[in-house]
Amino acid sequence: MKRLGVNVDHVATLRNARGERHPDPFLAAKLATKYGADSITIHLREDRRHINDLDVKKICNSKKMKINLEMAANFKMLKIALRNKPNYVCIVPEKRAEITTEGGLKINKNKFKLKKILKVLNKSKIRTSLFVDPIINNIKLSKEIDADCIEIHTGKLSRLIKQKKNFKNELKKIKKCSIYANKIGLEVHAGHGMDYKTAQILNSIKEIKEFNIGHFIIGESFFYGIEKVIKKFKVLISN
Ligand code: PXP
Repeated sequence: MKRLGVNVDHVATLRNARGERHPDPFLAAKLATKYGADSITIHLREDRRHINDLDVKKICNSKKMKINLEMAANFKMLKIALRNKPNYVCIVPEKRAEITTEGGLKINKNKFKLKKILKVLNKSKIRTSLFVDPIINNIKLSKEIDADCIEIHTGKLSRLIKQKKNFKNELKKIKKCSIYANKIGLEVHAGHGMDYKTAQILNSIKEIKEFNIGHFIIGESFFYGIEKVIKKFKVLISN
């Protein structure tokens, strides 16, 4: 059975729209866990547009949840991770002007820095993951610099599916990378832009062990409630 990571960033987006305390991403994380999320993902962006430092502290302090902290590859963020000790860290690229994380890491260009950061995290027993586009060379490089896992960016696949365009080629690329990563000893995760349909399609790739889904789960929860939405995903990815 694949694991489900629930990203609660967009509960903070809504809270921040009023600059007050409600709705609280910590409560969303607790409820998501109660209803079956295997982990909680939070992305502390450099501009703090959703999750902030206090959220990270509060959420990471809870020993009842497995926390996956997404962060940019820099030493300031590394310090924050070491202070808050999440269970997992996923390193993602970050551009100030983007609406969301639009692509995977350019590992080639940042190999030395990434390797250094991964080494420190590995030493602190934090599971590490790199967010990458489905290209074989990214998988090879991830192994070379000692990541534990890769998370494959499913944004393009999700977009093609939603636009009812031909997605077979993109799906093939994701499958090929998943098989290869699994073969060389990297755990495979997938995420970005996913909804029920994408989850159902990607569920056929047995090498993928974890999905990280945020925006759709939070949006859908407005209408149907977080319990129903999480339970529906759990059923979808359970076979
Ligand atoms: N995985 C990673 C590494 C991400 O950066 C994001 C977006 O923050 C997600 C998963 C979740 O994407 P979405 O909110 O589109 O489901």
